[in-house]
Amino acid sequence: MPRVAIVGSGLVGRGWAIVFARAGWDVAVHDAGAGVAASALGLITDGLEELARHLLVDDPAAAAARVRAAEDLADALDGVSYVQESVPEVVEAKQAAFRDLDALAPPDAILASSASAIVASLFTEELAGRARCLVAHPVNPPHLVPLVELCGAPWTAPETVDRAREVLTAVGQVPITVNREIDGFVLNRLQGALLAEAFRLVADGVVSPQDLDKTVADGLGLRWSFLGPLATAALNAPGGFADYWARYGGSYASVQVEPAGPEVFGPATIARVVEAWGDAPEPEWVAERSRWRDQRLAALIAHKRAQPPG
Ligand SMILES: NC(=O)c1ccc[n+]([C@@H]2O[C@H](COP(=O)([O-])OP(=O)(O)OC[C@H]3O[C@@H](n4cnc5c(N)ncnc54)[C@H](O)[C@@H]3O)[C@@H](O)[C@H]2O)c1
Repeated sequence: MPRVAIVGSGLVGRGWAIVFARAGWDVAVHDAGAGVAASALGLITDGLEELARHLLVDDPAAAAARVRAAEDLADALDGVSYVQESVPEVVEAKQAAFRDLDALAPPDAILASSASAIVASLFTEELAGRARCLVAHPVNPPHLVPLVELCGAPWTAPETVDRAREVLTAVGQVPITVNREIDGFVLNRLQGALLAEAFRLVADGVVSPQDLDKTVADGLGLRWSFLGPLATAALNAPGGFADYWARYGGSYASVQVEPAGPEVFGPATIARVVEAWGDAPEPEWVAERSRWRDQRLAALIAHKRAQPPG
């Protein structure tokens, strides 16, 4: 059985443990916090049982039995071919974690980071094994949203990216390759562009926050959940992609004459949007609503898997 180490067993690390256990890997979970890895096991089991309710894992008990809390980092790395680091998003924490990983992991193991915004060149430059390091940025929760952005540093071996792509595809994720380091990779650049315009529209009183959300949840997002925006455009004109842009490119260009700038995320705009949003919920409500979101995501993934490929 292939072995993986999950280093950092918070929100994202636990999701990664579910991904690999579901796919039949032996999973060693490690966390710097005392007792954190051990207490993650119960949450990982809960996540697998939730997947089973949507027929997204065959045998949740067997999958849970493949996950163990490692005694220490060296124990976690014993015999692994892949490591998914998921420690906090702080550059010094990534540097310290990768120094230890490169020193202790088997020499042919891939060292992947869940970093959302810190590029690999900021924490791997000095390492002897820097060619085997890359970012594999997931979407939360990784066991329900399969996309993973792979982005190497300039010194990452192309073979490392290829192997990471193979591993992640084999465990049921959907990797994409980001060809060079860029702030926000691809997903958060797209998300940020949409949020910047959303903030501007709400702050300027063009639309309420709730109605803005409907334009995605009951509009754009329905198609985007299986097509993507470019493939969507390709079907919205009889002559396909080029025909769509010949017809509508000008109207998109005119909206972009004054794009939303960084000030839309400044305190004044945020205060206006927070006021328009209107509620400050209790943490229990957020937790309850997050569980609801995960159930809806699981049902959507089950639906997508049941459909013939496009
Ligand atoms: N939360 C998200 O939505 C999300 C989405 C995609 C990627 N990420 C990225 O995933 C990473 C982890 O985020 P998270 O939300 O799971 O954080 P988290 O705070 O929930 O978990 C981090 C865990 O790492 C542990 N830790 C700290 N230093 C460590 C070390 N040296 N070795 C082992 N464990 C250590 C902490 O004790 C904690 O349990 C970050 O880089 C984050 O940007 C987060």
